[in-house]
Amino acid sequence: MLVVKNLHVSVEGKPILKGVDLVVRPGEIHAIMGPNGSGKSTLAYTLMGHPAYDVEKKIITTNKPINTNKYQCKIMLDGKDLLHKTPDERARAGLFLAFQYPVSIEGISVQNFLRQATQTLGLQPKNGVLKFRQKLLHEVKRLGIPEELLRRSLNEGFSGGEKKRLEILQMAVLRPKYAVLDETDSGLDVDALKVVADGVNRMMAKNKTLGIILITHYQRLLRFIKPDVVHVMIDGRIVKSGGRELARELEREGYRKFLISH
Ligand SMILES: Nc1ncnc2c1ncn2[C@@H]1O[C@H](COP(=O)(O)OP(=O)(O)O)[C@@H](O)[C@H]1O
Ligand SMILES: [Mg+2]
Repeated sequence: MLVVKNLHVSVEGKPILKGVDLVVRPGEIHAIMGPNGSGKSTLAYTLMGHPAYDVEKKIITTNKPINTNKYQCKIMLDGKDLLHKTPDERARAGLFLAFQYPVSIEGISVQNFLRQATQTLGLQPKNGVLKFRQKLLHEVKRLGIPEELLRRSLNEGFSGGEKKRLEILQMAVLRPKYAVLDETDSGLDVDALKVVADGVNRMMAKNKTLGIILITHYQRLLRFIKPDVVHVMIDGRIVKSGGRELARELEREGYRKFLISH
């Protein structure tokens, strides 16, 4: 399982995450919802190991013998520490890194990026390029991605919907154990949301142990994806966790109640 414990993160010296705890078990979908600026993307980038996000790794000193000293924060995947790992190592451990990171590389095409990423993870089948291309084309067809998109450079402006399709393609090809999907509000229409939802649901059907952290402030995405757990994040903390009914409550009433009681 993926365990986040007492995560404190600062950006440029400003505390953003103020003690986040989260446990995602195989096969679970966790939705993290919250108003703009509450720290949702910060959590995603931190999980991925983005260098701009400083994790406070202060050691708690207890009165007990020296070997009980421990790090205050934890990010673990299947019992292995991720916190002190590079983004590449995290990906190899089975965490999904979306396109946002690493920053797109000048001139590299989508298909070359995917091939390199697959190789880095050691997933490339032995009989090589041809097999990879077949698998890619198979996924591309299922996702309704025009083949031409694969040859375009990662830097070339993709529309919101195209980015989402490519993200799901990347997830399908890389087969992670846990995926963090940050559904920002950047002009996603219902069709793009459906692409994400179909992709996620198909992946979950194929791989029953896939765990997903779905970050969104759009309740309507949760009409298409059914989370097992819903968390509300306010000001860098998870202030409430519950089942699907919590998402419906948020859809009806918004975050006001949580903002006031916070
Ligand atoms: N790279 C960054 N540089 C400076 N401030 C940042 C950066 N990333 C996030 N922040 C700040 O952290 C806070 C939380 O942002 P974010 O995690 O993007 O929230 P959310 O995704 O919930 O909208 C905001 O106040 C934002 O300005
Ligand atoms: Mg965000």
